[in-house]
Amino acid sequence: MPSDPSSRPPVLVPIRSLGPGHRGRIERHLLALEPADRYLRFGYQATAEQIGHYVAGLDFEHDDVFGIYNRKLELIAMAHLAFSRDPESAQCAEFGVSVLAKARGRGYGQRLFDRAVVHARNEGVDMLFIHALSENTAMLRIARKAGATLERFGSETEAHLRLPPATLDSRVSELVDEQFAQTDYRLKQQARSFWSFLAGVQETRQGVRAARHRSGS
Ligand SMILES: CC(C)(COP(=O)(O)OP(=O)(O)OC[C@H]1O[C@@H](n2cnc3c(N)ncnc32)[C@H](O)[C@@H]1OP(=O)(O)O)[C@@H](O)C(=O)NCCC(=O)NCCS
Repeated sequence: MPSDPSSRPPVLVPIRSLGPGHRGRIERHLLALEPADRYLRFGYQATAEQIGHYVAGLDFEHDDVFGIYNRKLELIAMAHLAFSRDPESAQCAEFGVSVLAKARGRGYGQRLFDRAVVHARNEGVDMLFIHALSENTAMLRIARKAGATLERFGSETEAHLRLPPATLDSRVSELVDEQFAQTDYRLKQQARSFWSFLAGVQETRQGVRAARHRSGS
């Protein structure tokens, strides 16, 4: 069973679902990962070109992508919930996640996992898979704490987590989370455009001051 999110400190992290309009930011986020982190995320040393292909191939109709933005609207953390394309395992999904190095250790990886678990349950998924390198302590910790079964194959570890069916609570909690994240994003957008407006005003003020200074008035 996944760990109970209510047992954790009530830190509100706005996690929003991302669509095709976010591809540019998703690509910038993945390109900002250090080589070692790209290796941990993809299981191979992904080049910029491979990341480009991955982002271009994201299917937002079929899969779900979640993200956490900072105040500068930089995507600091994201998760990809990929649903099975195989009719034999239609109730399975795979979870992949990355958090920028500067934003690690704040619980974002955990929160994205919790959000993905709720969403997967609401979509009827009963088994969630995580593929991680055996050295990936943080990812394996998240999986283990949720109650996943871990199987180690040398340098790689496969984790799978059985999910309980959706409830009214899981459905409402996802709606509330998404609404909160959309509002947070809009406020950040407004703040950003207001800051650039203020910067423009400041430049005009400085220009006027400089002109006054030159004319000696
Ligand atoms: C794995 C990753 C997503 C974790 O993100 P994060 O936001 O730093 O993780 P959290 O802050 O939510 O921590 C989750 C748990 O891991 C533990 N943890 C975090 N970093 C750790 C580290 N370097 N070593 C050991 N434990 C660690 C935390 O203490 C926490 O456990 P706790 O709740 O019992 O205290 C992040 O390290 C990352 O992006 N790595 C590169 C990509 C990757 O490995 N993706 C996973 C494979 S798809």
